[in-house]
Amino acid sequence: MKRALTPGTFDPITSGHLDVITRAAQMVDEVIVAVAASPKKRPLFALEERARLVREATAHLPNVRVEPFDDLLVDFAAKMDATVIIKGLRAITDFEYEFQMTAINYQLNQALETLFIMSPPQYMYLSSSIVRELASLGGDVSQFVPPCVARALAERFATA
Ligand code: COA
Repeated sequence: MKRALTPGTFDPITSGHLDVITRAAQMVDEVIVAVAASPKKRPLFALEERARLVREATAHLPNVRVEPFDDLLVDFAAKMDATVIIKGLRAITDFEYEFQMTAINYQLNQALETLFIMSPPQYMYLSSSIVRELASLGGDVSQFVPPCVARALAERFATA
């Protein structure tokens, strides 16, 4: 069985992430969406809430499951028995950083491949921080995120 990880902070999951996960799920037998604790990023949503939103947004994809993690990505991949990491590549600005991460991960475990899926044009400039900012200022995020995330953001900023 070919199992892939699609890792990220998912604070929160966007339509761009969902596009990558959906396409990854067509390429391998099973996709594990690895939701990183990423404490340094001081996420808006707690780890369990981010994982819950990813679960709800991917519930229609039968070969996708969601796992939170707080260890090294290569160690988590080994623990999950995954042999490939699949990530989205958006604008050219992603490249340098992704190149560095991929090189380090490869150095740590040469049996773990990293594949990139190009974002379609409509998601090229989408990011979780843009979505958070838009929602915090009362903007309509519905075209950028799954409905469960739009609801969660509306609730979060209504009580902020
Ligand atoms: N659509 C929309 N947005 C996308 C996207 C897509 N397809 N792909 C990435 N993004 C955005 C995210 O929304 C996020 O936006 P933000 O910074 O504005 O919030 C940004 O790109 C970064 O994404 P993030 O999910 O934080 O991923 P990352 O590239 O920073 O990597 C991990 C996160 C979990 C993969 C990485 O930190 C990791 O491996 N952590 C584990 C610890 C570890 O092993 N560290 C050593 C690695 S060498």
